[in-house]
Amino acid sequence: MTKAATVAKKPKKAAGVKAKKVAVDQPLQVDEGEATVGQSFTDKAKMTMRNINVFYGDKQAIHDVSIDIAQNEVIAMIGPSGCGKSTFLRTLNRMNDTVEGCRVEGEICMDGENLYSPSLDVVELRARVGMVFQKPNPFPKSIYENVAYGPKIHGLADTRVDLDEIVENSLKKASLWEEVKERLHQPGTGLSGGQQQRLCIARAIAVSPEVILMDEPCSALDPIATAKIEELIEELSQNFTIAIVTHSMQQAARVSNRTAYFHLGKLVEVNPTEKVFTMPEHKLTEAYITGRFG
Ligand SMILES: Nc1ncnc2c1ncn2[C@@H]1O[C@H](COP(=O)(O)OP(=O)(O)OP(=O)(O)O)[C@@H](O)[C@H]1O
Ligand SMILES: [Mg+2]
Repeated sequence: MTKAATVAKKPKKAAGVKAKKVAVDQPLQVDEGEATVGQSFTDKAKMTMRNINVFYGDKQAIHDVSIDIAQNEVIAMIGPSGCGKSTFLRTLNRMNDTVEGCRVEGEICMDGENLYSPSLDVVELRARVGMVFQKPNPFPKSIYENVAYGPKIHGLADTRVDLDEIVENSLKKASLWEEVKERLHQPGTGLSGGQQQRLCIARAIAVSPEVILMDEPCSALDPIATAKIEELIEELSQNFTIAIVTHSMQQAARVSNRTAYFHLGKLVEVNPTEKVFTMPEHKLTEAYITGRFG
């Protein structure tokens, strides 16, 4: 009797394993109309995005994405190459406006203000929502001028002393001051890659942004420079809201509070980072974090 029960159980288990194997071989997709799983929304939202679609010409890159970004949180955006992370990030400060043929639909608000309203000053928006790119891109100017440029054009300093103070404070917040204070008037492009990236972060924070967008900010850096930037992200999150795209799951796990998983232009899952990396709710998230694709 016991034996029969065991035998009866075995094929069932084997069938289950087989079914799973078949699923692995099939292309993993998000079902049409399938909603994002997890915790996309918060009652402390800094930015709210609703039903976002983004097109490049006829090609749709982002499909009906809705999510909140909370005040002072670090949210990581992960997913396979080409899934739309950069495209989505760029909707948050209207950088897609500068991309030929790109069209954004849906509603994006910061503190309740519609960022796509025709009356909105886009230059001011890009100061309020700063951006740090994958490749450090300092201006071909001195270290000082790189940081002072934004405050100057936005009229944030009345005197040279004020400007000096903003430059010093921004470089300190970006953990670069000690390394550059003796050579502020030398070209920013003469710094190492990691230093240039911290310079770009100093440049972004010099205009007192509310949100900082980072698109793979460490991908061109060595592990030491990466560790510095990660420490910096943690510090900055006390004053700023940060959205970071990363291909490093370790980095997402180290720096973020919540993680959003994108797949083929759809937002599959948003959850507290620890949950995403230990108990993902969606099978696609699980497949990605266990290295089955991407
Ligand atoms: N300027 C553009 N013109 C046309 N299509 C674009 C443009 N930029 C991105 N795309 C397309 O939009 C989709 C999403 O691209 P996106 O760069 O946002 O992906 P990603 O997740 O950031 O990828 P990666 O991890 O490689 O940086 C891709 O299919 C890409 O080919
Ligand atoms: Mg990208």
